[in-house]
Amino acid sequence: MKIFVQKGILADIKTQAIILALFQDQKELTGTSLLVDQASKGLITELINNGDFTAKPSQTAVIYTLGAIPAQRIALVGLGKKSEINLEKVRAAFSKVMQHLRSLNIKEAATSVDLDFLQEKAKIVEAVAEGSLLGLYQYNPYKTVGREDFREVEQLNIITEGNQYAIIAAAVKNAQIITAGVYFARDLISAPSNEMTPSIMAQKARRIARRKNVTCKVLDRAKMKKMGMRSLLGVASGSNEEPKFIILEYSGGSKNKAPVVLVGKGLTFDSGGISIKPAEKMEEMKSDMSGGAAVMATVMVAADLRLPLNVIGLIPATENMPGGNAYKPGDILKSYSGKTIEVINTDAEGRLILADALSYASVYKPAAIIDVATLTGACIIALGDDVIGMMGYDEKLKTEINRAACETGELVWELPLWEHYSELIKSDIADYKNTGGRAAGTITAAVFLSKFVGKYPWVHLDIAGPAWSGKDKAYIPKGAAGISVRLLTEYLRNLTVK
Ligand code: BES
Ligand code: MN
Ligand code: ZN
Repeated sequence: MKIFVQKGILADIKTQAIILALFQDQKELTGTSLLVDQASKGLITELINNGDFTAKPSQTAVIYTLGAIPAQRIALVGLGKKSEINLEKVRAAFSKVMQHLRSLNIKEAATSVDLDFLQEKAKIVEAVAEGSLLGLYQYNPYKTVGREDFREVEQLNIITEGNQYAIIAAAVKNAQIITAGVYFARDLISAPSNEMTPSIMAQKARRIARRKNVTCKVLDRAKMKKMGMRSLLGVASGSNEEPKFIILEYSGGSKNKAPVVLVGKGLTFDSGGISIKPAEKMEEMKSDMSGGAAVMATVMVAADLRLPLNVIGLIPATENMPGGNAYKPGDILKSYSGKTIEVINTDAEGRLILADALSYASVYKPAAIIDVATLTGACIIALGDDVIGMMGYDEKLKTEINRAACETGELVWELPLWEHYSELIKSDIADYKNTGGRAAGTITAAVFLSKFVGKYPWVHLDIAGPAWSGKDKAYIPKGAAGISVRLLTEYLRNLTVK
């Protein structure tokens, strides 16, 4: 869907549907809603007075105007109580109403954003555009039957009286760039692993690097071997797919400014390897590259937003497969850092590929390192399906991530990394072992990662829960969520306004 910003008055616009967002406890209509109501001789008041619409969060209602105004329909959507309003409610409401309009086979609609609450106007407009776009995401390149029935809203016009045109247009542009990043990540994650191999991920990264100030390097198996990335290569050894270490560099800041390094787990399929997973839901393990996809998308978004800073994306990409060459429980791997790892369980592969990538991050003398990974099932047990687990030692970085998370509505909760957890990953014959048992599984995974990070501020985000959604959520349709693209982007944007 395309979003256009246009000067005018909503009540005068000829469109298939006018969208109006209302508060639940609103005594009287105000602003644009009042104008539309007056122009339509009280159609909205009539509906509300009859109790058909109370503006509960994301409640929708459609009124046919029968020629009372140029618009064919008025679509109402509820925002809930004004005292409880936030950007999440706005995103959810616009997602819901756009999905409803799509179900009516509506191709274009118009709205105005005259909401005011404790947020900058630009943020509210961004939320309107984001909610609308994210909720309308569909993944159907593999559907060949019934394609003629697919529905798509093609256009949303945001109508403004004029004085705020520039602010609104800029906000819409930002939202379009950011949601394009989320769509990009969702597409990569949704693609089946036979069509989203490490090599194909690398190709996608090279396409990102067609942009100004973005370069891409891809290390192949031979190069990684030479460099000593044998922890990553251990995981890759069971697969016939070539592993790739993808390096995206965006230089939007001055040359001497330390970059932010983003590291994303790029497991294009996690079978568990020799410690093979049960068959149930194994197909969802095509999404084990969600962190890598989010990092690629974030570098793309940073470049498209022309953020004035330097960002590096590191994506170790491989499959985890059983086979004659596969690494085995008991094997010892020498990592890029030189530290040795005893493999206890080949299904704890994410930390092995991240270990080499995190050590490699030191090459950049980064200002911060953030890794994003679908790392542990234990994180789902601890925090549920909707929440990102955050771990790290750097209070400032964690605070910055938390702030960004509050703004984007991607829920983040911290788990502790106390010293005593290190005991759980000590190996008898190597430096570390790759699992610490069932207890505190998310934390021991993070502690393992921490051993491979140099002396730089670092935060680990475990996205195992929200990366893949088994059901429709407010503006995340069932399937690949593209989680943390907006979070990482917001974090980077916040760095630029200090
Ligand atoms: N990719 C999985 C974690 C995962 C599980 C993500 C379910 C999303 C949904 C990871 O590689 C894994 O298998 N972790 C193991 C670690 C264990 C062997 C210590 C796990 O969580 O069971
Ligand atoms: Mn695994
Ligand atoms: Zn995995």
